[in-house]
Amino acid sequence: MGESLLIARIGELVTNAPDADGAGHGPGPFAVINDAALVIEADRIAWTGPSSRAPAADKLVDAAGRAVLPGFVDSHAHLVFAGERSAEFAARMAGLPYAAGGIRSTVAATRAASDAELRGGLHRLAGEMLGEGTTTFECKSGYGLTVADESRSVALAAEITAEVTYLGAHVVPAEFDGDADGYVDLVCGPMLEACAPHARWVDVFCERGAFSADQARAVLTAGRAHGLIPRIHASQLGPGPGVQLAVELGAASADHCTFLTDADVDALAAAAPSASSDGTVATLLPGAEFGTRQPYPDARRLLDAGVTVALASDCNPGSSYTSSMPFCIALAVRDMHMTTSEAVWAATAGGAIALRRTDVGYVAPGAKADLAMLDAPSHAYLAYRPGVPLVHAVYRSGTRLGAGYGWEADSWALPGALGDGRTSEADVVLRRARFAARV
Ligand code: NIG
Ligand code: FE
Repeated sequence: MGESLLIARIGELVTNAPDADGAGHGPGPFAVINDAALVIEADRIAWTGPSSRAPAADKLVDAAGRAVLPGFVDSHAHLVFAGERSAEFAARMAGLPYAAGGIRSTVAATRAASDAELRGGLHRLAGEMLGEGTTTFECKSGYGLTVADESRSVALAAEITAEVTYLGAHVVPAEFDGDADGYVDLVCGPMLEACAPHARWVDVFCERGAFSADQARAVLTAGRAHGLIPRIHASQLGPGPGVQLAVELGAASADHCTFLTDADVDALAAAAPSASSDGTVATLLPGAEFGTRQPYPDARRLLDAGVTVALASDCNPGSSYTSSMPFCIALAVRDMHMTTSEAVWAATAGGAIALRRTDVGYVAPGAKADLAMLDAPSHAYLAYRPGVPLVHAVYRSGTRLGAGYGWEADSWALPGALGDGRTSEADVVLRRARFAARV
């Protein structure tokens, strides 16, 4: 076994593990330990507790009062694409509505791009995510829409994440105009055959202008027959059948949930994951409402009904071109009336449950050592100081990664005893340089 690492003098440790005996059971309700410490052994958390009771370890990091959270789990992102749609965004801000059809312009750019260009864009966005504290992310295909372009999209995504989603049913491509069912046959047939080996999930955009309930059911059922687990884009642009379908098919998550009926909310509450069943999560994507100027989903209605809520970025070039979970948390708190702890839980534990992961989204013995350390004393600062780069350090599988956009490992052991709690001059210089490199 490698060296153990003690992180001590954590001002607030968000654990999502009230009993501190996680031992691989997955995240629990929101919980914190104040004046905390934790020990990492290899890629796992080995101990958490009060700093005063911290055991000895081979190396020591002084958190100097900073908050430490589970790394964010971004359970909804579309990162394999080429081109950009800033003109469409500008037109929306000038009053035009968002329409599913804009996806086709990204499809054209994606088909024209080389593998290297697509990989470059994917890695740039994944690096951005990491720099903002996201240590687990889901990535969808959906901008290729041919057998070759969808299968290269899922294969590229599988190079850097285990959470790959086949979204051949994003929109009907232009060459199938007037023959949506013909396209669904392709998605359920040869395209699925080519994509399933690289994917864990199957998704469909179930919405007016995209796919009907029957078409969506066909796609998700075919995916399930190939071992993929369903998740759905549901009720983003108006009320629709997506949530009921998600619950009917045992989807891990119904995503967007912007326009819900009372029956939808009841169905999601009844399907909330529990110790005995996987269930269906409602994943809210406030970046999409920000980027389309739609009304935000009613998070309070869902939470008060007992629905399990996750927050994710929906990072994509059309509706939500942000990779920042802190930004989404700030929107959820300010504009969706989630409490700061509800929003942080939804962005960590909620995302883990939406991805049916029991190793991430919490900090307790047995969990993966995926952490975000903030230049702030508590999780509330993520919403209290919106737009400020608060992520000081990111640990993934027990290794501290370079801040900013880098994937490279960084020197992470501070010499000697605990310091006096102030950031050293060298630290400030280094962080300024990293921040400059971001922009
Ligand atoms: O989740 N709704 C469908 N897909 C994306 C938008 C994709 C795009 O506009 O390019 C979303 O918002
Ligand atoms: Fe999406």
